[in-house]
Amino acid sequence: MIQRLCNLIFVYLVLPYTGLATYEEENNLGLKQQAPDLSKSIEDYLVEKQKNFKAELQARLEQHMLHILRTIEIYSMSSFRSLMALFPDILKPKICRKNMHRTIFSQLEGSSYELISPALHRSQDFQHLCDYTTDEGGWIIVQRRQSGRVNFSRTWQEYKDGFGDFHDDFWLGNDKIHALTMSWTYELRVEVTFRGRKSYALYDSFYLGSDFHSYRLKIGRYSGTAGDSLRYHNGGTFSTIDRDNDEMIGGSCARKNGGGWWFVNCDTANLNGRWGVGQDRGMEWSGVGGYQSVASSEMKIRRV
Ligand SMILES: *[C@@H]1O[C@H](CO)[C@@H](O)[C@H](O)[C@H]1NC(C)=O
Repeated sequence: MIQRLCNLIFVYLVLPYTGLATYEEENNLGLKQQAPDLSKSIEDYLVEKQKNFKAELQARLEQHMLHILRTIEIYSMSSFRSLMALFPDILKPKICRKNMHRTIFSQLEGSSYELISPALHRSQDFQHLCDYTTDEGGWIIVQRRQSGRVNFSRTWQEYKDGFGDFHDDFWLGNDKIHALTMSWTYELRVEVTFRGRKSYALYDSFYLGSDFHSYRLKIGRYSGTAGDSLRYHNGGTFSTIDRDNDEMIGGSCARKNGGGWWFVNCDTANLNGRWGVGQDRGMEWSGVGGYQSVASSEMKIRRV
């Protein structure tokens, strides 16, 4: 294309001032016919270039985010605030990674969480809530129940797509969890509160199969304070009120206990169970609450 552009310049701008008429006669007609074609490809080229430029700029800024933040932190909070006002979209992190989110953000926003809007060309290309303070941060929240306002007895399709409210109770969505855990190794952290005490279970790997494989659960080694209540569900397939993949004969665990979960012959944990209900039918993490519902929960995953 550059070659053709040079030819055009030569023919229309340079040739008239030279005496090389024979060259002009031979080439003029052909090049004139090519002109509309050429301007179209220049336009395409520029549009493409512009798109790439935006994506490239975003990627580079993210790469240098830590460095930028460290530098800014040396200066005062007020200068950081004015920078944020100038470049609100650029300075805010677009990905949820360990150590990415520094205390300066929590100071600024007065919160441990941040809703991250889709980034360009990344596997986390959907809105997600990031916990950027717990254990060096970088946790994508996949489940949260804190108010009981959202009903978790939902259909297969709803668990697949996700539901609820990022500012309240929600399930991120099985397809998204699958896409994330397929692209990288993730760890899982489960946090529950029971009688005012917070405890956690950490699994050093976490993988969710695809819809085709009924979102089969695979977890690694456990450590923590809440008990290994998810172990029983390792290898289990996901069931919902309208899709029974469990091992209970003559019934559906999801209908009996509520929620959508990797039921086997029902459960030792079911954090999507009925809010506030006891007798093994509620929001269960047996390692801390036995058969009683825990008061709140969060399930979060992070790249390792
Ligand atoms: C939650 O939704 C299920 C299914 O639609 C329904 O059967 C149940 O009564 C609802 N629970 C509450 C507490 O609204």
